[in-house]
Amino acid sequence: MDQYTGRYILSRASSEEAPAFYGLMRSVYREMPDKDLFAVGDIELSWMQTALTPPGFGISARTESGELAGMLVVLLPESWDHSLANAAGLDPDILPCTAEMDMSCVAPQHRGQGLQRRMLTFAETLLPETTRYLLCTVSPHNPASLKSVLALGYRVAVTRKMYGGFLRHILIKQLQR
Ligand SMILES: CC(C)(COP(=O)(O)OP(=O)(O)OC[C@H]1O[C@@H](n2cnc3c(N)ncnc32)[C@H](O)[C@@H]1OP(=O)(O)O)[C@@H](O)C(=O)NCCC(=O)NCCS
Repeated sequence: MDQYTGRYILSRASSEEAPAFYGLMRSVYREMPDKDLFAVGDIELSWMQTALTPPGFGISARTESGELAGMLVVLLPESWDHSLANAAGLDPDILPCTAEMDMSCVAPQHRGQGLQRRMLTFAETLLPETTRYLLCTVSPHNPASLKSVLALGYRVAVTRKMYGGFLRHILIKQLQR
């Protein structure tokens, strides 16, 4: 079920939207003065296609004219080795109960309206019943993203180098279900 929020329509997205998601991700990355904050330089379209294939899915924020203003990728990790739970040093038993909020970005002309927060909140309504823990990574030097996730109840579990040497907080939120 879509959600209308201000000028935007939030929807669940699948792999057909991978090219549009990939395009927005690349254009946001290109315009960023500090590329370390959004470590997506090596990501390929095929990664996005896989990520948006079940059990993973996306959240799109579109204007009424259909412009993609923001996006978020939700991963339901199946491999412990590459999971954020592992990177944060958590108990392997929690893996099937985790979801990872990834790749969130908003086109520059649509920022300043809390769209990242709204997409993250909408994503919570689409998670499997079994999900108990939400994880994400944010650079300590990314105040907009950090403010969004802290306001939603995520808390820093650990701070470490990731993605080839970039400093990241790994944040976790426990769902009350
Ligand atoms: C991070 C991002 C998605 C946030 O976009 P957004 O949802 O439009 O965020 P907003 O501009 O509404 O800002 C969210 C909050 O941070 C605050 N904020 C924004 N920039 C800030 C800054 N430079 N310093 C301090 N606070 C800042 C805003 O005032 C707002 O606070 P509020 O909730 O009290 O109003 C967007 O900036 C983006 O796409 N950045 C590039 C990609 C990226 O960094 N993605 C995240 C990877 S973890």
